[in-house]
Amino acid sequence: MRRALLLVGSPKAGPSTSGALGAYLLDRLAEHGVQAETRRVAEVLRDPAGLGELAGAVDRSNLFVVSFPLYVDSLPAPVVRCFEGLAAVWGARAGGRPRFAAVVNCRFPEASQCDTALAICRRFAAETGLSWAGGLALGGGGAVGGRPLDRAGGRVRNVRTALDQAGAALARGEAVPERAVHLMAKPLVPRWLYLLIGNLHWTCAARRHGAFRRLHDRPYA
Ligand SMILES: Cc1cc2nc3c(=O)[nH]c(=O)nc-3n(C[C@H](O)[C@H](O)[C@H](O)COP(=O)(O)O)c2cc1C
Repeated sequence: MRRALLLVGSPKAGPSTSGALGAYLLDRLAEHGVQAETRRVAEVLRDPAGLGELAGAVDRSNLFVVSFPLYVDSLPAPVVRCFEGLAAVWGARAGGRPRFAAVVNCRFPEASQCDTALAICRRFAAETGLSWAGGLALGGGGAVGGRPLDRAGGRVRNVRTALDQAGAALARGEAVPERAVHLMAKPLVPRWLYLLIGNLHWTCAARRHGAFRRLHDRPYA
């Protein structure tokens, strides 16, 4: 395995958790002698020739990785547009395409929120002749907050280990190992703490907007 291409699927202009996860994985691949380049969805779509260029870059690599945030239980629209664009550029010619892996992160603490998005990625691979190499899902992505993983503290050590294991396996031409999937999915914040902070946040917001006594209203019921 010599070349990898990372597509960062966060539409954010600045640092993103998707970018941080993808960059860490590329560093691990580099340690195993894999050269890698990165593209961002916004830049690909802004350039009229971007999708054709992306399709060529994917075809020249041995591994294509997409790292994106979960949006409404699915992929952000710009990532969907890139997938549709790649499928259109490639047309019916199937087979001979590189391996494809996905990394998805979401705000809710349960990584299982990302199951549908990963299923969509698997389907995209099947439809376009990419060889599915597996996916990693991270809940509570806010704990990374777009920081480089090396500087995101001990709370994300499981995330780093999961990506270490995934990087080593992908560099060997293997699929993302199950143990990496499980490590990545371990909650960064206990569920009770997430609910406590979430409820506090909603209560404060409701007070601020004068809606505290109306939280249980059901105007459409
Ligand atoms: C439009 C929009 C929709 C979102 N939908 C979900 C969702 O369905 N479930 C979830 O857990 N997080 C959702 N999120 C939160 C993001 O997945 C989360 O903040 C993620 O860590 C952002 O990653 P990034 O920094 O790579 O963009 C949504 C965020 C936005 C802006």
